[in-house]
Amino acid sequence: MPVISMISPKGGVGKTTAAVVLATELAASHSVTIIDADPNQPVKTWAELGRHAARLKVIAGVNQENITDAIEAASAESVFVVVDVEGTASLTAAYAVGMSDFVLVPCQGSTLDARQATKALKIIRDAGRLSGGQKPHAILFTKTNPAIRTRNLTHVARQLTKAGIPALDTELNEREAFRSIFSFGGGLSDLDPSEVANLDKAKANAKALAKEVMDRIKEVISS
Ligand SMILES: Nc1ncnc2c1ncn2[C@@H]1O[C@H](COP(=O)(O)OP(=O)(O)O)[C@@H](O)[C@H]1O
Ligand SMILES: [Mg+2]
Repeated sequence: MPVISMISPKGGVGKTTAAVVLATELAASHSVTIIDADPNQPVKTWAELGRHAARLKVIAGVNQENITDAIEAASAESVFVVVDVEGTASLTAAYAVGMSDFVLVPCQGSTLDARQATKALKIIRDAGRLSGGQKPHAILFTKTNPAIRTRNLTHVARQLTKAGIPALDTELNEREAFRSIFSFGGGLSDLDPSEVANLDKAKANAKALAKEVMDRIKEVISS
């Protein structure tokens, strides 16, 4: 079933955070497998905290040798597969994109970050050429300020639109709650609202992200 990969050449932009937020949100109502194809194994480390839903499975230790088998097996078993990859300059990333139904490119809202993101767009284009069709994809703006849309982000978004690069309407805001799941394990619904600021807002953000990703995948499947 649908495979969604997180790809970006830059570390620290929020790929792993977006992958876990999206996967835990989808797992509220579907079976989900996260494939941890980052040699640093951040999703595995999160999973070892042991508070995630039983219908969310994590496959760790995935690399260029075994990623295509891992994705194929996971998509036969789970309703959604989310793949977290480190960087783009690897066969692992190229295979992940090649086997995806939808590729998300997490990107912080600055011109420098957007330039980096174009490297991800290149492997998406190349993978599309190999598989005989454009891979559906979108930029996901991450760590954005929930209170204001900076002029910088507005500028970057406009430049991307001009260049014909799609971006999700939903951004992943900078929120304490999105950091907290990596300290406490599980998803947002496993956090204690008395201990995490604005948890309700983070939950609404995660829900909007999952809904938009599902809608985009439905569009792709029906077209
Ligand atoms: N939406 C967010 N809100 C708050 N902190 C975030 C968010 N996304 C990422 N971070 C923080 O930024 C850092 C890098 O995030 P990470 O998801 O590991 O990025 P990547 O996988 O691209 O290297 C981590 O410290 C993480 O907690
Ligand atoms: Mg990561």
